[in-house]
Amino acid sequence: MRIAKWTMLAGLMAATAWGQTGASLYRTKCANCHGAKGEGRAAIKDSSLLTAEAKQRTDAEMTEAIATGGKKKSSAHAYERKGVSAEQVKLLVQYIRELQR
Ligand code: HEC
Repeated sequence: MRIAKWTMLAGLMAATAWGQTGASLYRTKCANCHGAKGEGRAAIKDSSLLTAEAKQRTDAEMTEAIATGGKKKSSAHAYERKGVSAEQVKLLVQYIRELQR
């Protein structure tokens, strides 16, 4: 009984924001290029999110990089135009911060 209760609670907690978490969004949309833990891919230049530079970005800069492609206006990152909501971008920024710790 006790175990079933906890399982339900964990399920409810995971179901925030359309059932998505920063982790699940990252896994489906970003891990391909940025690696499972943000370490990046050797074959993709500058794809690590764990560099000193990346850690120094402000949340606002991170948000911009993801939503609009940042200063470079990299179209690969204009997630705002690919159906990723502001709320989801926020979850992603939080998740990247966790990976960077
Ligand atoms: C097609 C491969 C690819 C995918 C998919 C991708 N990225 Fe990137 N990303 C890159 C590359 C390459 C760079 C570095 C070069 C640049 O800034 O354009 C980068 C840069 C970034 C940066 C800036 C890092 C810094 O040093 O400031 C952030 C933040 C970022 N990506 C987050 C994400 C998130 C979040 C997702 C998923 C929603 C994602 N990326 C999906 C390839 C990708």
